[in-house]
Amino acid sequence: MIQRPRGTRDFGPAEMFRRRKAEQAMRDICHRFGFGEVVTPTFELSELFTLRSGQSIVDEMYVFKDKGDREIALRPEITASVIRLFVNEMSNLPKPLKLYYVGNCFRYENPQSGRYREFFQLGAELIGSENPETDAEVISLAVHCIRAAGLQDFHVRVGHIGVMKSLVLNEVQDSALAGNVLRMIDKEDFDAMGDMFDANSLSRNLFDRITTLAETKGGTEILDSVDDAEAQQYLKELFEILKLQGVEDVELDLGIVRGLDYYTGMVFEIDAPKLGAEKQILGGGSYTLSELFGGEAVFSTGFAIGIDRVMLALEAEQEPAEYTPLDAYVVPTEDPMRKYAFAIVSKIRSKGLRADVDLMRRNMSKNLKYAASAGAKFAVIVGKDEMAKRSVTLRDMKTGEQTLVPADFVAEELEKALSKGSP
Ligand code: HAM
Repeated sequence: MIQRPRGTRDFGPAEMFRRRKAEQAMRDICHRFGFGEVVTPTFELSELFTLRSGQSIVDEMYVFKDKGDREIALRPEITASVIRLFVNEMSNLPKPLKLYYVGNCFRYENPQSGRYREFFQLGAELIGSENPETDAEVISLAVHCIRAAGLQDFHVRVGHIGVMKSLVLNEVQDSALAGNVLRMIDKEDFDAMGDMFDANSLSRNLFDRITTLAETKGGTEILDSVDDAEAQQYLKELFEILKLQGVEDVELDLGIVRGLDYYTGMVFEIDAPKLGAEKQILGGGSYTLSELFGGEAVFSTGFAIGIDRVMLALEAEQEPAEYTPLDAYVVPTEDPMRKYAFAIVSKIRSKGLRADVDLMRRNMSKNLKYAASAGAKFAVIVGKDEMAKRSVTLRDMKTGEQTLVPADFVAEELEKALSKGSP
């Protein structure tokens, strides 16, 4: 047997039904907020990501040379691709641009529950506007998407990376060292950060100021303790608009640094507490990337939702949505009836209902067993005596109740019976 590569998964029909349901609910919300879908390539020139995405992402990238000796990377995220698309083909369009995407991403990480080497994101980028209402619109979209997917227990944290970045970059002159400090803050690994401070003779006073800032978390009441007056005013307006959009229960968290390097201002994360270690189901914030890709400097705000983690969180929270792949399974009672069974299944399908028919030449009782295991709501029995009267029998697979209906109107009768069954 050939195993699938470590950190990848296969998805069966029942799981895909649930994933598509959650995904469709989130797509609908994106459209409701005025975002249009874009699709970008699964692989890009690796430079697109090495320019600014940050060392931790670069270390995890799948990179290879193609036959033309170009260095190619499987995309570790989709934001850089969307901004490349914007710079190359959309920069003359009226702003702001509201774009969303759904796609697979690849990171060579240590696989565990909720952490995969191929995973799926639904993300959105609002390009060309920089103010608190833009950021509020994006956070609000994110929260509405998560709610629409059906998740109830989640926790939104909003911060401002400018505050921590300016503290670290002003005080730590060596930019590589400053980058390492920011990465450790992101991982909340303050022990290792302490060791690094000692090894590089950085001051304990700076260490204390960083850890105090990283622990500045709470409700809007702590906004007054934000030292940076500009960031404070920005966040105050942002929280006010969020409240007016019905997005409350948002925690202010000045310790959010984010693993990607391109953020400049507001940053936010959403956690699903039931997930344990890999509980972050969304990350995002405001950034500029366009000037790096040869365009004019344009501010953007965006986020990406980890669809796999949303699905795990849903599983932890509720019974899985019922998967009934078939409305009807058509069963001929004996061999001469088989050809009529095909006429009947065609009638049902042409009405838009989901129907299947016996292809294994099973006998009636085996067919009924199969219909039950295939999750059909009704069996449509095509029998000799009934067909002589141009009728077929509908059998409700849950109750066993049987009704004789005209064969010419089998689809209409099924529709009626199905709508009676639904709550
Ligand atoms: P990110 O925080 O790297 O941000 O990823 C977003 C989400 O993708 C995470 O919160 C997590 O739920 C999910 N995720 C990341 N890595 C994995 C993995 N190995 N396995 C499963 N899920 C994972 C970004 O990607 C940015 N592009 C977000 C953004 C958009 N910022 C601005 N615009």
